[in-house]
Amino acid sequence: MRSEGSLNEIRLNASVSYRRDHGVSAKDVSDKLTQNRILTNNDIDALTVLEFAAQDILQKYHAAMRQMEARLETLDQDLKLRKSRNPIHHIESRMKSVPSIFEKLERYGKDTTLEAMEEYIMDIAGLRVIVSYVQDAYSILDHLEQQDDLEVVTVKDYIANPKPNGYRSLHFIVRIPVFFLDGKKSVPVEIQIRTIAMDFWASLEHDLKYKSVHEIEGVDVGAELKACSQIISGVEKRMQIMANALEGNGAPPQDLSMLIGRQRG
Ligand code: GTP
Ligand code: MG
Repeated sequence: MRSEGSLNEIRLNASVSYRRDHGVSAKDVSDKLTQNRILTNNDIDALTVLEFAAQDILQKYHAAMRQMEARLETLDQDLKLRKSRNPIHHIESRMKSVPSIFEKLERYGKDTTLEAMEEYIMDIAGLRVIVSYVQDAYSILDHLEQQDDLEVVTVKDYIANPKPNGYRSLHFIVRIPVFFLDGKKSVPVEIQIRTIAMDFWASLEHDLKYKSVHEIEGVDVGAELKACSQIISGVEKRMQIMANALEGNGAPPQDLSMLIGRQRG
C-alpha cells in the first residue's frame, strides 16, 4: 500500500535526481519527444520517475479540468433554454505533458521540482472553448466571473490587443475548488476562448510556423499572416452586425452601412 511518507520520498528523490541530473535536461527530453528523436536510457529513467511522482498531482488537475468543462456545458445548455442559442461550438481539453511542464520551469528559470510545478505552471490543465461570435467569448467570461466559487485570475485579452503576429484569443486562468479525500483544493485551469474564425487562423498559423524553414522569395510570411488575421477580424465584425440585427438587437444604421450586401433604394 502507498503511504504519504513513501510518496513524499519518491517525490523528493525524483525532483533531486532531476536537478542533479545525469546530463538530462527537460528541454532535451521535450525536444526529442516533439521531434520524434530517440530517447536514451537516461532520458527514459528520468521521465519514468518524474511521471510516476507527478501522477497524483496531475490527477487533481485532470479532475479540475473535467469539472470546469461540465460548468461550461451547463452554461451553454442554460443559454440554449433561455435565449435559444448555443454560444459554444465545441470544447477541446488537454493536459500538459510532464516533459513540457519541466521544460517550461527550466525556461522560466524556476526549480524543476513538483512544488515549483504547482506554484508556477498555470496551464497544466487547459480547455479551449470555440464559440461562434466575439461577443460570446466575453459573455462566457462574464458568466464565469459571476459564479461565486470560481476565481478568475490573469485575463489576457488578445482579442482587444492581438499579439504582434496577429494571434487573437481570450485567455484566462480559473481556479476551481475540487474535493479530494484529503480535503478541498483550488486548482487552476487555463481557458482559451476563441471564435471559429480565430481558431481557423491559429491552427493554420501553428502549421505554417513549422513549415517556415523554407522561405518564399519576395513574400514576408509574417506580414501575410498578420494581414490575414486583420481580414478575418473585419469579416467577424460584419457577421456580428448581421447576427445582432437578425436577433433584433437593433444594429445602429452606421454599422449596417459597412455591409456590402446592403440593399439600396
Ligand atoms: P506559453 O509558454 O506558450 O504557455 O506562454 P504564456 O504562458 O505566456 O501564455 P500565452 O497567453 O502567451 O499563450 C498560451 C497558449 O496560447 C499557447 O500555448 C498557444 O496554445 C496559444 N498561443 C499563444 N500565442 C500563439 C500564437 O502566436 N499562435 C498560435 N497558433 N497559438 C498561440
Ligand atoms: Mg501555455
